[in-house]
Order: sequence, then structure tokens, then C-alpha cells
Amino acid sequence: MTDRYAVFGHPIAHSKSPQIHAAFARQTGQDMSYEAILAPLDGFAGCVADFIAAGGRGANVTVPFKEEAFRLANRLSRRAERAGAVNTLTFDDGILGDNTDGAGLVSDLTRNLHCALAGKRILLVGAGGAARGVVEPLLEQQPARLVIANRTVSRAQELADLFGRGVTACGFDTTGGPFDLVINATAASLAGELPPLSPAIFTAGTLAYDMMYGRDTPFLAFARVQGAATADGLGMLVEQAAEAFFVWRGVRPDTAPVIASLRAV
Ligand code: ATR
Repeated sequence: MTDRYAVFGHPIAHSKSPQIHAAFARQTGQDMSYEAILAPLDGFAGCVADFIAAGGRGANVTVPFKEEAFRLANRLSRRAERAGAVNTLTFDDGILGDNTDGAGLVSDLTRNLHCALAGKRILLVGAGGAARGVVEPLLEQQPARLVIANRTVSRAQELADLFGRGVTACGFDTTGGPFDLVINATAASLAGELPPLSPAIFTAGTLAYDMMYGRDTPFLAFARVQGAATADGLGMLVEQAAEAFFVWRGVRPDTAPVIASLRAV
């Protein structure tokens, strides 16, 4: 019988996840389906319960339900616990919550963009859910330092405090620099806005990475003017999906052709 998977979000119509998982399933010969489900803002848990009752084996969770999915899970992976959010659910003897976002970012940086992180100076811009999910996986790569800069400095401090030594917090005016890697994990790009960052964070050797994908952002345009190399979050999207696919199916799909085909659209 075909195993059913889905992604839950609100909105969800523009999600690329069904296309990505369909490509992975074709490539690896897995007998599975993957659909997008619009959960009502106050009805996420009920939607998940209905999907499980209908034979669902697992699901991805996107905005705005990742924290609710964290609370819904009966068991959590260590990386989900540290992230405080869940993007991957497995329905198997209860609900197992996992988070593949950070692993997806690190895979995209190290494998696709050939940006080794050991010994590097990293600036993470933002301290919300998107930032929190990637701190631990970045630290596992043993950068020289990780600075978290946020508009609301207290939020950056709270996040840095969760991880202890090697992580510092600041506001946009005290970041210092330059950095080898600057990651934009704020919601500013969604609104077409540029966080008020100092040009001194960039050099010609910096990689500026925006977790958002699908359009050039003010952050990437600003970085480019300072001479930095740039990358959007499409690779992270495909890599977090590949990691979820591996969690569910035990098979690692080849991400490169899937990223290339999404870029070509
Ligand atoms: P997400 O789960 O997407 O990270 P979030 O928890 O609402 O969403 O966090 C949004 C992040 O983007 C925060 O770091 C927020 O800064 P504050 O903590 O000061 O609110 C940041 N952010 C949103 N709009 C921004 C803007 N226009 N300029 C700079 N930072 C912005």
C-alpha cells in the first residue's frame, strides 16, 4: 500500500514540498504519496489526528505550526528539543517530533556551497524560531565564533544563553566584523525590508546567506554591493526535505538535480 505523507501549514498553497518529495520518491523508487494540507489556524492538532486516522505515516510542519508540533509530539529527537520547534513528524507508536531545518542549512552550506564552517566567524541575524533551529547544528561544525544579532537584543541574549560558551549576543549596531558567513534568519526579507546592518560585517570573502528563497532580497542585494558572495535558502529547503525523507524512509535522495530543477522554473 502507498504510504501517505503530507505537509501542514497556513498558508500552504505555494509550498514546494510536494514537488520535492515526489521527485525524491521517483528517484529512490519509494511507494509513497505526499500532499499539502491547509490546517485552520486553530485546528492543527485535529488535522494531524485526522491524517493519522486516515493512515498517514509522517508529516512536515511549516509556518505557523512548528512550535505547536513541538508540543504535540510524545517524543522528541535531541535536535528538536534544542530547536524548540518541530518540522518533521513520524507517526509510529505515538508521534515522534524531529527538526531537520538546521541539518538542511548545514548540508546546503557545506556540500552544495562548499563553505566549510570549522574555524569560521559566523553572524546569525535574527533570534526567532528560524534562528533558534539552526544554532546547535552550526555549533557542531565548530566555528571560531557565533554571534547572534537581533533587533530586540534581549531575545538574542536569551537564545545565546541557551547554548553557553562560544555564542555571543548583540544588537545590529554592535556586531563588529567582518564575518566569513552572515546568515539572515529574520522575517525582514518577507516584508521586503533590510535589517539595519553595518557594511563592516562583509568582506570580499564573506558568504551572505538568506534563509528566504524565491526572490532576491534587500539583504542579499546589500551584501552584494559590499562585495560578498550570496546564496538564497532554496538549497536549505531541499536539504531539510531530504533529511526528513531519510528520517521516514531510511534512504538519502540525491538533492542536486532537485535543486537544479527548482532553480530552472
Ligand atoms: P521566525 O519563526 O520566522 O523566526 P519570529 O519568531 O516571529 O519568526 O521571529 C522573527 C525574527 O525576525 C525576529 O528575530 C525579529 O526580530 P525581533 O525579535 O526584534 O522582533 C526579526 N525581524 C522581523 N522583522 C524585522 C525587520 N524588519 N528588521 C529586522 N528584524 C526583523
